[in-house]
Amino acid sequence: MSMYVDCIIKNATMYQWPTEQPQIVDVAIKNDVIVAVGDCRQFEAQQNYDATGLVLAPGFIDVHTHDDLEVFRSPHMLSKISQGVTTVIAGNCGISAAPYHQASSPVDPINLLGTKEQLIYPELADYKRAFALSAPSVNLAMLVGHTSLRAQVVADLSQPANADEIAQMKALLSKAMEQGALGLSSGLAYHNAKGSSIDEVNALAEIIEPFGGIYTTHLRTEFHGILDAMDEAFATAQYAAVPLVISHIKCAGKENWGRAPEVLSHLEKQREHQNIGCDCYPYAASSSTLDLNQVTPETDIFITWSESHPEMAQQNLQEVAAKWGVPLIDAAKKLQPAGAVYHCMLEDDVKQFLSYEHSMIGSDGLPCDPHPHPRLWGTFPRVLGHYSKTEQTLPLALAIHKMTALPAKQFKLEKRGQIKVGNFADLVLFDPTTVCDQATYSQPHLPAIGIERVWVNGKLSYVGDADLTSVVDYGRAGRFLNRTSKNN
Ligand code: ZN
Ligand code: CU
Repeated sequence: MSMYVDCIIKNATMYQWPTEQPQIVDVAIKNDVIVAVGDCRQFEAQQNYDATGLVLAPGFIDVHTHDDLEVFRSPHMLSKISQGVTTVIAGNCGISAAPYHQASSPVDPINLLGTKEQLIYPELADYKRAFALSAPSVNLAMLVGHTSLRAQVVADLSQPANADEIAQMKALLSKAMEQGALGLSSGLAYHNAKGSSIDEVNALAEIIEPFGGIYTTHLRTEFHGILDAMDEAFATAQYAAVPLVISHIKCAGKENWGRAPEVLSHLEKQREHQNIGCDCYPYAASSSTLDLNQVTPETDIFITWSESHPEMAQQNLQEVAAKWGVPLIDAAKKLQPAGAVYHCMLEDDVKQFLSYEHSMIGSDGLPCDPHPHPRLWGTFPRVLGHYSKTEQTLPLALAIHKMTALPAKQFKLEKRGQIKVGNFADLVLFDPTTVCDQATYSQPHLPAIGIERVWVNGKLSYVGDADLTSVVDYGRAGRFLNRTSKNN
């Protein structure tokens, strides 16, 4: 007697860290779940796929994104699904599209998410309704951004919030947690959050604890004061008794180069006392809004966009300053508001963070940028192809683990991140011999190669290589992922 399923993927190569050697398996999908792993001879399916020579991995989880509104603007999410990403975590770096609604234009860096007209979700519940209507191709879970809360209630963003303002932020955060948010994010390096006191951040972090929430932070500094900034993050998470994720861990700025071992041992030591993770992207350049504090002659800064001087976009700040005949800092002021790519890291530090066993992969891609950092389209295939295969920075099994099981566990994404019977069928099939990123600093929109098939909640959602420009519109089956309850 054979049993009918929807799809069988045969002879796939599957890795399961900490084992470096792969197994060959068949995987059967029925509806939105994996119903068999291993021998699938008793099953019959309409869709059969021979995956000989290909790697089948759980769908990649992009733990650090700013896709909050991109899932509405481009529900196909080609930039992510073409990398094998099936779940994105939005609301990072202190900025989230929900809960957020303001009559005025979004302040820096909330303007990275979208325009005032697009920021229309006063409650997370409103956002979730819009998500269901838009039916994006990827799953999404949401962190609540500290700066988004501040922008709605704090009168002077350069100052710490007062008691009344803290109470209002707590209420907004608590409601969003009730409605399914994963936790709280902060971006303390940005000038609209920098003024906040440790007490303010602690008071908010405390709110998420009873919900089983997580705290992620773009540290107060990633430059020479990074160890102190890490201590501040440790203290907040410890005060609130919540797990911590340090966002896009890096050693920024020349005076800080070569310190990755020191930063990692600082983190490793503290891991004995509390639950700490981190994420990173596989590039030696960062990107954000143009920050005057980061303007120095020794960092190459590429201007990606400028609202006041769009004609100066896509040039180096040096060139712009030379054209205007003004110092770098004056040129940077004149370009505001603007976006930038900063070539501020040492390649060897990047490799150290990437290969660290407990780091996750997060693209930090900026989908609104007209000339984005290539991490938006290239992060995951670049880790697999360039770093794992070519540079041998880390074993393939570990690379996959950092994109799947590790983030699913850290962010408590139930029944995802592992190829297991009963788990949701979020899967990616890729060719380990060809997989690689194509997006570059000069051509940032090129989709990766070697990603052959992507399934989201059992629906085939992307077929690569045959025609690089097309998304398979078989299904846009992404779901909003609510935080699982504390006891799970
Ligand atoms: Zn950030
Ligand atoms: Cu970010």
